[in-house]
Amino acid sequence: MLEVNQISVNYGAAPALWDVSLTCGDKELVCVVGPNGAGKTTLINAVAGLHGVKSGTLVYGGRDITRLASHRYCEAGIAIVPEGRRLFTQMSVLENLELGSFLPAAKARRAERLESVLALFPVLKVKLHSLADSLSGGQQQMVAIGRALMAGPTLLLLDEPSLGLAPSIVLDMFAAIRQINSQGTAVLLVEQNVSMALETADRAYVMEEGRIVAEGQAKEMMDRPEIRKAYLGLDTH
Ligand SMILES: Nc1ncnc2c1ncn2[C@@H]1O[C@H](COP(=O)(O)OP(=O)(O)OP(=O)(O)O)[C@@H](O)[C@H]1O
Ligand SMILES: [Mg+2]
Repeated sequence: MLEVNQISVNYGAAPALWDVSLTCGDKELVCVVGPNGAGKTTLINAVAGLHGVKSGTLVYGGRDITRLASHRYCEAGIAIVPEGRRLFTQMSVLENLELGSFLPAAKARRAERLESVLALFPVLKVKLHSLADSLSGGQQQMVAIGRALMAGPTLLLLDEPSLGLAPSIVLDMFAAIRQINSQGTAVLLVEQNVSMALETADRAYVMEEGRIVAEGQAKEMMDRPEIRKAYLGLDTH
């Protein structure tokens, strides 16, 4: 279980998150939705240890990880798929995937994990020796997710996996995310694609201007008039 307790994050003197609290259970699929600039990336980077918090705590599996060095997060079972994928474009798909399993514990299980990544994204099988740069956007997102899975995380953090992808590919991507979760990995997802995120997640939080402004069961959130109006472009009248 991940517990984010009242964290605040600044960029220099400028506050970006105020008093943000959320939880993600061990097998849960939780999303944080919100508009451009709401603070979603700041939040997920803070949870991944990539950005320090000014106040508040991060607890994972009962352990306080607030001040844990970012390279220790991997050992703690947390892996992030960052915004914009951040692949090594001049390296092959296989090399990118293997980078996710450089720690000794993960290296020992490299072959087995590669097999499960390829079972999840079969299209990558014939691309293993292609440069990451030569892949389509959707395939690159698969590599980014695959790289994170190679570490064998118990909690997967995903920053806008649908960004820039065609609608049909977005559907496949969310189906894969559901599959990862159903195989036992907790998922915390941040998204601007509110309808897909709410359809996919168990629970949801809405973030605006650095604060959580609503939370609930994802399916139930879709029926709330204010959410439908503000985020789904649907007027209930
Ligand atoms: N490196 C930075 N330095 C200063 N301010 C930043 C930095 N990164 C983000 N911000 C500011 O922090 C706020 C939150 O940004 P953040 O990127 O977390 O939002 P987001 O919800 O991920 O947006 P998007 O949907 O565009 O990805 C914004 O006002 C943004 O301008
Ligand atoms: Mg972002």
